[in-house]
Amino acid sequence: MNEQDRPAEGGARTVSPGHGAAIPTGDVVAHEPAIGTPERFENPGLPAHVHRLADTDEKAAKRAEKQVAGLFLLSILGTLLFLVAYFMFGTDEQTWVPGIGRTSVSNVLLGTGLGLSLLGIGLGAVHWAKTLMPDTEVIEERHPLRSSDEARAGFVQTLTEGGEGAQLKRRPMVKYTFGAAMGLFAIPLLVQVVGSLGPMGEATEDLRHTYWNGKKRRDGSYAFSKPRLVRDPENTPIRASDVTIGSVFHVQPEGLLDEEHHVLDYKAKASVIVMRLDPKDIKSQKELDWGHEGIVAYSKICTHVGCPVGLYEQTTHHLLCPCHQSTFDVTDDCKVVFGPAKRPLPQLPITVDDEGYLIAEKPFQEPVGPSFWEREK
Ligand code: FES
Repeated sequence: MNEQDRPAEGGARTVSPGHGAAIPTGDVVAHEPAIGTPERFENPGLPAHVHRLADTDEKAAKRAEKQVAGLFLLSILGTLLFLVAYFMFGTDEQTWVPGIGRTSVSNVLLGTGLGLSLLGIGLGAVHWAKTLMPDTEVIEERHPLRSSDEARAGFVQTLTEGGEGAQLKRRPMVKYTFGAAMGLFAIPLLVQVVGSLGPMGEATEDLRHTYWNGKKRRDGSYAFSKPRLVRDPENTPIRASDVTIGSVFHVQPEGLLDEEHHVLDYKAKASVIVMRLDPKDIKSQKELDWGHEGIVAYSKICTHVGCPVGLYEQTTHHLLCPCHQSTFDVTDDCKVVFGPAKRPLPQLPITVDDEGYLIAEKPFQEPVGPSFWEREK
């Protein structure tokens, strides 16, 4: 109780008028309170409790129990679907989903499984609470911060009664399906976390190759065919004579932009930026050799965490990554001159074909993008 609300001597109560002074009011209701004096009114109390069907009808309670169990079963099925999808499907199998378009079967099943898993637990818990758990309203009085020993004992008793009120003992179907749903729900998280740690094995093959390597054959090799460099997004080849000093081209390997599937995946890895420098400005012999008369091509994927490095400063010959300001020196093998990136941008060896168009002489000679554990193997 607030100090100001304590009964004053003689049984009278005082009520704060709201601006400092305490006004004796006695125990009567003030029908015409003075300005600034809060009006006292009777506590209307809680509305009468209305019993639910399941509170009074055992058949209805049984029906509710089955419905709750059914929802937890739905969650269990969702979790099992997630696990099957995780272990049985690769990312190559495609399907068509209305509103999304072509996407991998694995992603659809993983998302559907996890969605059902969560939805089943959520709906089951809500339905359980609305039909079988106690719905009486309880008022908790204010008390000092530390509860008294009696209150603590009461809390434990309330918890115990709550468990009994939720009918866990009487409704074994709910108890076991809820326990199983909650237990299984943790498994996908563990699988994702634990399964994503440690060596990646063959999965690193995808990180070592880009569309510049050509299509993957059945035997695992790549059909490299010296693809032309094409403008992105115009999809037109580039003559060496088109690349003047100071100009910059955003480039993809020929054929990629004609692909129906995976275009975004492929583009993200294969993006290249092409510039022409005065050969006298190039400090590295390797860079000169891998270029064509001062035209050089570098991966656009930042070696820090993979943002596109798209800003070229012609006067300093610096490439800048907008994400964390890593800066690469184009005249010196694209070495890092500033920022958190730790490795130079990989260079794409280029030359020209018989018609004077720029082509890739070889694919990238190292993985593009950020580091990964087995990169150096
Ligand atoms: S991603 Fe380029 S600096 Fe961080």
